[in-house]
Amino acid sequence: MIRVTLSVNGEQVEVATSPLRRLTDVLRDDLGLTGTKVGCEAGDCGACSVLLDGEIVNACTVPIGRLTGHEVVTIEGLDASGRIGSLQRSFLHFGAAQCGICIPGMLVAAVALLDKNANPDESHVKEALGGVLCRCTGYRKIIEAVVAAPTFDDDPVLAPEGKAVGQRIARVDGIPKVNGTDQFGADGAPTDALVAKVVRSPHQRAGFRFGDLGDYVRRHPGLVAVYTAADIPGRNYFGVIPPMADQPVFAEGEARYRGEAVALVVGEAALIAQLDLALFPVEWQPRPAVTSPDEATATEAPRLHAGRPGNVLIRGLVQRGQLEAAFAAADHVVEGEFETAFIEHAYIEPEAGHSVRVGDRIEMHVTTQTPHMDRADVAAILGISVERVRIIPTSVGGAFGGKLDLSIQPFLAVAAWNLERPVRITYTRPESMMSTTKRHPARMFVRVGATNDGKLTAMDFGAVFNTGAYASWGPTVANRVPVHAGGPYVYDAYRARTAAIHTHCPPSGAFRGFGVPQAAIAQECLFDEVADAVGIDRLEFRLRNALTVGQPTVTGQVFEAGVGYRDCLEALRPVWNRAREEAAEVNKGSTRSRRGVGVAGLWYGCGNTSLPNPSTIKVGLNRRGRVVLFQGAVDIGQGANTVISQICADAIGVPIERLIRVGADTDTTPDAGKTSASRQTFVSGNAAYAAGQALRQKLLALAHAADDASLELDDGALAVHYRGETVTIDLSGLETDADGLVAAAEATYDPPTTALNADGQGEPYAVFGFGAQLTELQVDLELGTIRLLRVTAAHDVGKAVNPALVEGQIEGGVAQGIGLALMEEFIPGRTENLHDYLIPTIGDVPEIVSILVESNDPVGPYGAKGIGEHSLIPTAPSILNAIRDAIGVGIRRLPATPDRVLAAIRSVEELDDVPGDQV
Ligand code: FES
Ligand code: FES
Repeated sequence: MIRVTLSVNGEQVEVATSPLRRLTDVLRDDLGLTGTKVGCEAGDCGACSVLLDGEIVNACTVPIGRLTGHEVVTIEGLDASGRIGSLQRSFLHFGAAQCGICIPGMLVAAVALLDKNANPDESHVKEALGGVLCRCTGYRKIIEAVVAAPTFDDDPVLAPEGKAVGQRIARVDGIPKVNGTDQFGADGAPTDALVAKVVRSPHQRAGFRFGDLGDYVRRHPGLVAVYTAADIPGRNYFGVIPPMADQPVFAEGEARYRGEAVALVVGEAALIAQLDLALFPVEWQPRPAVTSPDEATATEAPRLHAGRPGNVLIRGLVQRGQLEAAFAAADHVVEGEFETAFIEHAYIEPEAGHSVRVGDRIEMHVTTQTPHMDRADVAAILGISVERVRIIPTSVGGAFGGKLDLSIQPFLAVAAWNLERPVRITYTRPESMMSTTKRHPARMFVRVGATNDGKLTAMDFGAVFNTGAYASWGPTVANRVPVHAGGPYVYDAYRARTAAIHTHCPPSGAFRGFGVPQAAIAQECLFDEVADAVGIDRLEFRLRNALTVGQPTVTGQVFEAGVGYRDCLEALRPVWNRAREEAAEVNKGSTRSRRGVGVAGLWYGCGNTSLPNPSTIKVGLNRRGRVVLFQGAVDIGQGANTVISQICADAIGVPIERLIRVGADTDTTPDAGKTSASRQTFVSGNAAYAAGQALRQKLLALAHAADDASLELDDGALAVHYRGETVTIDLSGLETDADGLVAAAEATYDPPTTALNADGQGEPYAVFGFGAQLTELQVDLELGTIRLLRVTAAHDVGKAVNPALVEGQIEGGVAQGIGLALMEEFIPGRTENLHDYLIPTIGDVPEIVSILVESNDPVGPYGAKGIGEHSLIPTAPSILNAIRDAIGVGIRRLPATPDRVLAAIRSVEELDDVPGDQV
């Protein structure tokens, strides 16, 4: 223990501490400066960036012992000094913060840059912010915001009364994200909370036996408890699809994947920080593991679960028309096999939270996408009623589907319930990566037939998904993919079959698109080969076969409106023509590198597949003349708080500035369902619209006015302007309900869908979003490296409720698509950190041009559809198609790393013959 005296944010502080403690721990735990975030504790993510003597450093790599006499400035210090006011306003204006977990690090890095360079350009920003990772934004709006900051003095966009929809309004929850006060899962625990840590299997499959756990606790003063499966008071399993719930809180008898929990230790923070879990008394008996579907379906393979013969979790099917006859009618039949890897969500915020027992109830403050589902599972695990569980989501530092499943919740619940003391937990980056769900690896087989005039006749698609050790969202993937695998096109006949196979790997779950991004890679890449075989332009081939209104989808569903796919392709046509001509010109004189252009399309159904999917929103007016929106749809960075507020404000007919938001809390907000499947704008937006309209009618009734009246809210008064007269109602004299509201309304919306029959025929989604992206890139023929030049993304979003947020979703999705295409591959035991598992940095994302197509869907609120997952789906195939365009041969095993690209180049004998030259 030593004493260290240093300056933090301009004040002298003295800390008594171990000299080896990380600066991040001292800032956050000892000084309460939680604006500095922790994403990796390894110098990889930059979330912990602070200024040390004016230079940017990763605080997680700085031992406190060497800081005597030094000066540290954190986000809180920058804010207090007023050095970042215009930068913060610029971030808010451009929508540069989504989840916000990376933003303190970004702002610190930006201030360090601006201190040295008062007018940076894009290249300066990329260099200065290159050490800070963002998984949400695609970096483009961050770059815009920093470049604009030195001269930024615009006011925030204000919406005219009743006209918030369609405006680029700054996020309603944005300010805490740019001043370091937003509370994420690791930020808000009581200072005396005990700390929990999970004991995990180091083997992909192993039996195990515990030693003397009581003796272990006694030998470690400060260790309070150890829990195993024997200590679960209710049921020792959970799962997002209740009939298939199969994942134990603590493994019993055998661990089925590396990283699976077998025990929990809980103790005082100082003890847990020192505890070496490698010495935990557990004896492992490693057993042969199956890690691929091929191994898992072999006849002698060990079975992971009773009742799932062949390790098959589930199969999916959609079929329509006479397949073989349709292939027989084709002049060209092209087929191919494609393979994708495990993909890690890599949200910058690892799983974290804390829990407190309050009497006979448990309160949990956790990072989650799905508070009500969490509540049901936690109640079952504790063996208590759901009413005794309260889930209060913290701000969520990125999720993308990875925080739909339980992670920390059962551990916090069991420990706080038993010990009756607050308990906190934060996963390390490696345990987050090894233990939580992944994007399903897929092996896909596709066969497509087309006629000489470029009309599709048939598609046959098969996919085997590695679904890992537990069910998670495997059934959802297996059922969603067959509906989508054909893309937004019309076929005479179609068949798509899928199987999700258990292996001794981490559970594959939900990740932005539920398997559709993988299927789109196979379908859209093969389409280029079909177009080439037919001999027509690749964009024209897609246009010729594009789904339009009045035509049946592969499930027989017919839409009479809201099908904007052709418009997206047409919007890309001028870009396509220009880019192809440029590429041909550039390639004429180039031997070292080649330019390529690729296009790919997408469709994606918003909401659950043929299942109930309700959202409930409540809204009311209080005596102070403020509209209180009870908004339980968790905003994971995508902007639900803002979009739902915009919709609701317009439905009532009041300025959005009059709204106060009550955030998600299972005690106080109705169930708005999970934040997934691109459903919140569409489903919760419709509920917010209906609730807003119902409240409007109640307010009009107070003045006996009809719907053509207008409302005006002032502090304590409601004025109703109606046919030349104004009725003013003093709100302070009205009775209030238990929520303090003088009038309130609640509405539920559940999208109209139908069940699919045995052939997968029916109406699985009320709304589909459509889109197409075009990538321009350069391939280095000697190194196999790819330089992305530009992505142009045209998306039919129905109605852009907030164009800035829509663009943010597109840019973030494109960035994740770049990772999927070019660099990301999770390998259990090998890439469980952010230096071996690479995600796109600010330098990897090129210019992204968004084109918003508005088809005004009749089912969506003000015509709006979802965009969250759609934006990722066409990116990877458009990149792969551009690579093939450049080098003449396709990459069918992802990611397209330089070694794979080089191998592909070497497989082509004559580059001069590549189809890319046929402009
Ligand atoms: S937490 Fe310090 S670099 Fe990631
Ligand atoms: S906004 Fe950057 S990680 Fe979420």
